[in-house]
Amino acid sequence: MFISTYYVKMLCHVLLLWMISRTEGTLDSRYVKTRVIKELKRCKESMMPLADVLSSDFIGCGVECTANKECRRFMFDTETNLCSLFDFGANCPTGEHVDNKVCYRQEFVCNEVSCFRCPLGYYGDRCQHVATECAEVKGTLMDIDQNQHVLAFIRPSPTGPVIQVRCAIKSTGWWTAIQRRRKGCKEVDFNRTWDEYVDGFGDTHGEYWLGLKHAYDIIQLKGPCRLLIVWWLNDKTRHSAYYNGFNLTDASNGYNISLSGMQERDNATDYLTDGSYSIAGRPFSTYDRDFSGYGCPERLNGGWWYPRTPNCSLMNPSGRLLEDDTEASLRWDDNLINASKAYSFTLNVQCSY
Ligand SMILES: *[C@@H]1O[C@H](CO)[C@@H](O)[C@H](O)[C@H]1NC(C)=O
Ligand SMILES: *[C@@H]1O[C@H](CO)[C@@H](O)[C@H](O)[C@H]1NC(C)=O
Ligand SMILES: *[C@@H]1O[C@H](CO)[C@@H](O)[C@H](O)[C@H]1NC(C)=O
Ligand SMILES: *[C@@H]1O[C@H](CO)[C@@H](O)[C@H](O)[C@H]1NC(C)=O
Ligand SMILES: *[C@@H]1O[C@H](CO)[C@@H](O)[C@H](O)[C@H]1NC(C)=O
Ligand SMILES: *[C@@H]1O[C@H](CO)[C@@H](O)[C@H](O)[C@H]1NC(C)=O
Repeated sequence: MFISTYYVKMLCHVLLLWMISRTEGTLDSRYVKTRVIKELKRCKESMMPLADVLSSDFIGCGVECTANKECRRFMFDTETNLCSLFDFGANCPTGEHVDNKVCYRQEFVCNEVSCFRCPLGYYGDRCQHVATECAEVKGTLMDIDQNQHVLAFIRPSPTGPVIQVRCAIKSTGWWTAIQRRRKGCKEVDFNRTWDEYVDGFGDTHGEYWLGLKHAYDIIQLKGPCRLLIVWWLNDKTRHSAYYNGFNLTDASNGYNISLSGMQERDNATDYLTDGSYSIAGRPFSTYDRDFSGYGCPERLNGGWWYPRTPNCSLMNPSGRLLEDDTEASLRWDDNLINASKAYSFTLNVQCSY
């Protein structure tokens, strides 16, 4: 990767500053420059900083970040001198211009003996290990004020890449989000190819699909696993359901889903393993690799484990956000998730519990 001399100079500045502050008893720190990304203004959730302060330069902003125990990223605006501190995540989001802003992510914080305050998901005395799933991320934490969800790094396969995921934090522990639909920011097209559903797509700040291969790897390494579905049809009505047995076959077998032991919560109905609409044992289908028998990915506009019935499915979590009630609309049974309403749908896996 190309590293400009400007960047090297900046880095030397930072190092010098840490050396100075170290002699005064503060901690040595390591920051890497990362991206400032433009978000939609309505994407407030991801843009919410831990704190906004004024600082003379980006180094001062880094000092502010080091002093805040929740801070893992900071964004400094060279025009307004506004220093925004953020918690976990890879980049800095803003609803405004990106031109005058710089973003630095903390890799880890060390003292003479060891490193701590690793990026969320990394652990070990030199931050040398990475969690496999969100349930394991929870166990690596010592001091974090818990939100409803956080972004964390995991490595689903020991030989695979480290990826950023969304962790849902529930009374039943931490869950790794496989799919997330949410109105408001980063709306994503779910009409995708087989390869995209295998690798994953979307944005952890908004709507996303983890990737079948990553879900498979987590299950392989950590199983047995369970599945949690949570959806809001509007901003008042919440439904959720657990399936105590959740497994996938490997890629060569089409990632067939096995699902059992539904435990209803909040008056949810079992639309996934009951009767002719059961998806248990069914392979995954996309428009370019369709095992549904009825052209379902094309008709419903997304990839899913479709039951083998002419009506395709009672629900369509990979559908489109429409105002009309069609089979391609994002919906759960006859509850159309109307485009004009607030909604969310998440599919989460948890193995170590
Ligand atoms: C889904 O994507 C395919 C391939 O790009 C395209 O042919 C098809 O028209 C899309 N479906 C919809 C409803 O946009
Ligand atoms: C999950 O499925 C795989 C085969 O794809 C199997 O080897 C494994 O034992 C299953 N795990 C559980 C907990 O049933
Ligand atoms: C579940 O149904 C009961 C009876 O209809 C109702 O009183 C209760 O409010 C419902 N709970 C939820 C979470 O919708
Ligand atoms: C996966 O589903 C397909 C289609 O129903 C079926 O032919 C195949 O035997 C299944 N594979 C496994 C391992 O269950
Ligand atoms: C399929 O949908 C049609 C029209 O909504 C309905 O009349 C029929 O009963 C459904 N078939 C099944 C097997 O659910
Ligand atoms: C969706 O909401 C819009 C605006 O409230 C309304 O005009 C439309 O009829 C609704 N669609 C359905 C199918 O309920």
